[in-house]
Amino acid sequence: MPEPADTPDAAPTAPAPPPAARVRATGLGHRFPGTDDLFTGLDFELVPGEVVAVCGPSGCGKSTLLSILAGWLAPARGTVEATGIGRTSWVFQNPYGVARRTALDHAVLPLLARGWRRADAERRAAEVLAEFRLAEAAHRPFRELSGGEAQRLMLARSVCTAPDLLLVDEPTAQLDRRTAATVNASLDAIGRAGTIVVIATHDPHTRAACTRVLDLGPPVPEPGDAA
Ligand SMILES: Nc1ncnc2c1ncn2[C@@H]1O[C@H](COP(=O)(O)OP(=O)(O)OP(=O)(O)O)[C@@H](O)[C@H]1O
Ligand SMILES: [Mg+2]
Repeated sequence: MPEPADTPDAAPTAPAPPPAARVRATGLGHRFPGTDDLFTGLDFELVPGEVVAVCGPSGCGKSTLLSILAGWLAPARGTVEATGIGRTSWVFQNPYGVARRTALDHAVLPLLARGWRRADAERRAAEVLAEFRLAEAAHRPFRELSGGEAQRLMLARSVCTAPDLLLVDEPTAQLDRRTAATVNASLDAIGRAGTIVVIATHDPHTRAACTRVLDLGPPVPEPGDAA
């Protein structure tokens, strides 16, 4: 009796790879009770490697869109379909940390939470701090960090959570131009390492450093613009 022909079905099957990370928004719109539509009809797809700026005037719904992408808020209209997004991390506009804990502690914690052994976690956290030019600050308590150092620490801590989707709200709003440039470079590096990065920003330099821009509203007229 002839052997059954080899078919793809008969081949030993390797475990299926995890689905590629992707976030797809379709017909997305939102308004809160008592507000007009903040945005309507947004269609976009985000894939790893992208660093996307969400721009528009104050109050147009940038932070609201981040909340929807994070899954914290249900959109009034449309859908967000997230595939292969295991971990989402959010970096708020105002850095927050534990005053007496060192910068290193802040970066170690998410690694311990992911099951790393302490020695390995400390080594990895120190590497990430160095990537964010925080090696010198590693053993300083959070309360002694400058605003720019604290902001970069929040990004470093996020990297230690190894997120698939990183949402960042106004990362450079309180920083001088030079510090802002280092934060923009760090965000770019996080994106190139394979995380989908979405940044709500008013900063034209951050916007220029992103691979794509989602504009939510008309530009605010500058003083002196023709009416
Ligand atoms: N929970 C809520 N209930 C009602 N209105 C809200 C709520 N959250 C936000 N809003 C309103 O929705 C609008 C958009 O807010 P959002 O914070 O998304 O704006 P933004 O574009 O991030 O502004 P900014 O640039 O100032 O940070 C604002 O008018 C705000 O007051
Ligand atoms: Mg906002």
